[in-house]
Amino acid sequence: LNKIAVLTSGGDSPGMNAAIRAVVRNTTYQNLKCVGVYRGFQGLIENDFIDLDARSVKNIINRGGTFLKSARSKDFREAEGRQKAYQNLKNRDVDALVVIGGDGTFTGASIFSNEFDIPVIGIPGTIDNDINGTDFTIGYDTALNTVVEAIDKIRDTASSHDRLFLVEVMGRDAGDIALNSGVGAGAEEILIPEEDLGTNRLLESLRKSRTSGKTSSIVVVAEGDQIGKNITKLAGYIQDNLPEYEVKVTVLGHIQRGGSPSCYDRVLASRLGVAAVDALIDGKSNIMVGVSHKKIVHVPFEVAINGQKTIDNDLIRVADIVST
Ligand code: F6P
Repeated sequence: LNKIAVLTSGGDSPGMNAAIRAVVRNTTYQNLKCVGVYRGFQGLIENDFIDLDARSVKNIINRGGTFLKSARSKDFREAEGRQKAYQNLKNRDVDALVVIGGDGTFTGASIFSNEFDIPVIGIPGTIDNDINGTDFTIGYDTALNTVVEAIDKIRDTASSHDRLFLVEVMGRDAGDIALNSGVGAGAEEILIPEEDLGTNRLLESLRKSRTSGKTSSIVVVAEGDQIGKNITKLAGYIQDNLPEYEVKVTVLGHIQRGGSPSCYDRVLASRLGVAAVDALIDGKSNIMVGVSHKKIVHVPFEVAINGQKTIDNDLIRVADIVST
């Protein structure tokens, strides 16, 4: 092993820069060379590289986004694109690859690694926390704090006007952001894709909280939830059936993906970045490095992508109890 390439791909997340930094610094520490690839797999195909050394990654541990930029590459889905990518790596004498991203990134990486003779290690970087085999993904903690801070502000005005707010948070297929931010921000109800609450039970619960003396309410809705998918329609439905409420909608959107990473995300990113290079030195390939019960784990891409990540049912129960 002599030269490692590192890239970020898919939706960005706070802490990706800290992860790149740790990868680069560990390559220097282990007397290896490192190159960065711009715009994920797309840059790999378009030969968009930059030589990196320990000093190239100064002053980025605190910065959101990814200085290597990110993309969702269509060309990498084609064999022709992957062949070009491989050729570009070979021309630069790169002999291993570290990819930072989510399940789409790992899917591409896994196909690439099986097709060509090049070891690939994945680092989970996504705000969704939807990767199987790791307790946390880089960016998730920061996103949660961003959401809670935003809902605290919404709560102030909701309370002043006695209103019901539906707050949509990210999470295409996963309810982790909604469930945890909902508990953290004291939401009345939390709608997540993993659990079908149904509109009747939602109305029932909101009616109950009204009669229990609550004058304002926050409902956190994961963007991928069945009934929450069309949030404007849901708001109209609640308004029609519960005229005693004044219903408002806030979609938090991409602010959840930005901002300076939390200390937790910086530490996680540092640990996983170091672990990725260590894994390559140990001869590992086709795996993601993750963290489980505070320990670094190696998870086959196959398991990280296709394994069933379950929602925390104990926390759903807690959410029900504390919103009484
Ligand atoms: O996967 C991360 C994520 O932020 C999802 O929660 C969201 O559905 C999606 O990316 C949005 O993607 P884009 O930035 O391409 O609109």
